[in-house]
Amino acid sequence: MKKEQFLITGGTGKTGRRIVDRLQKLGHAVRIGSRSAQPSFDWNRPHNWPEVVKGIDYIYITYQPDLAVPGAKEAIAELVRVSKNAGVKKLVLLSGKGEREAELCEEIVINSGIDYTIVRASWFNQNFSENFLLDSILDGVVALPQAHVKIPFVDANDIADVVVEVFLNDAHSQKIYELTGNELLTFKEAVDTISEVTEHDITFIPVSLEEYSNAMREMQLPEDFIWLIDYLFEVVLGNPENSIITNDIENILGKKPISFMAYAQEVSKTNIWKNTAVKA
Ligand SMILES: NC(=O)c1ccc[n+]([C@@H]2O[C@H](COP(=O)([O-])OP(=O)(O)OC[C@H]3O[C@@H](n4cnc5c(N)ncnc54)[C@H](OP(=O)(O)O)[C@@H]3O)[C@@H](O)[C@H]2O)c1
Repeated sequence: MKKEQFLITGGTGKTGRRIVDRLQKLGHAVRIGSRSAQPSFDWNRPHNWPEVVKGIDYIYITYQPDLAVPGAKEAIAELVRVSKNAGVKKLVLLSGKGEREAELCEEIVINSGIDYTIVRASWFNQNFSENFLLDSILDGVVALPQAHVKIPFVDANDIADVVVEVFLNDAHSQKIYELTGNELLTFKEAVDTISEVTEHDITFIPVSLEEYSNAMREMQLPEDFIWLIDYLFEVVLGNPENSIITNDIENILGKKPISFMAYAQEVSKTNIWKNTAVKA
């Protein structure tokens, strides 16, 4: 296949680096879009985006920190404008499942005049092993709100496989996909699975949304970060539609989504969870 130039924003992150890896193995030319890349790409500094996008045919857009935050719409609109000027052929946008604010960003991509696919994802398995919840897992105590909510966790490897497929196959043009795993787990069930496969004690403590926000304030985390976490737990996890399992991964890839157990078993073979307290 002809080598075409891909720009993968978030190309060192959870989904981005897996997409970069897959495209490079297929022989494609890939440019990483992140603050540490050369040329540097920063969502807050659009002045050099024409340079970053120059010569690019396909862009994977994964916005930081989340499409729901103030300023996201404007940034997506600017990247779309720059992409159009540069003759980009296709945009694949990673979006959140059941987020109204994210849908406003999706509409900018859909109405861009550039070919597109929208990929809405549920919570990633990798939140437990690649930042966010990793420190709690290593501490052996995970305290989270919305303990009753059943979540169709999705694996970043499945998302990467889907994104590569939709880039390379025009049948996925102008489609909106919703990616979930094929089982519903509470946070406690997910943590218990990690505890089982690592044979480490990890305690789950249910807390209220208010207790969780207060704890973040006591840790002096920035207010905009607290706002986003509150939003993700209250609005996104609180939306019953986000507990619905979809068949999109199986329909696109022709295989079942990776289960949370299989994910946990893979991670437990690495050093990532090695420092957790050993079971008495
Ligand atoms: N995590 C989930 O469960 C989940 C679920 C659904 C949707 N999403 C969406 O997925 C996206 C990624 O979220 P994530 O939390 O999983 O992060 P992630 O993909 O692991 O993000 C890290 C990547 O973003 C880059 N980055 C960070 N700040 C940046 C900035 N200001 N400008 C440009 N690049 C920046 C990092 O590289 P540098 O540090 O080098 O810049 C790195 O490549 C978000 O839009 C989120 O809403 C996440």
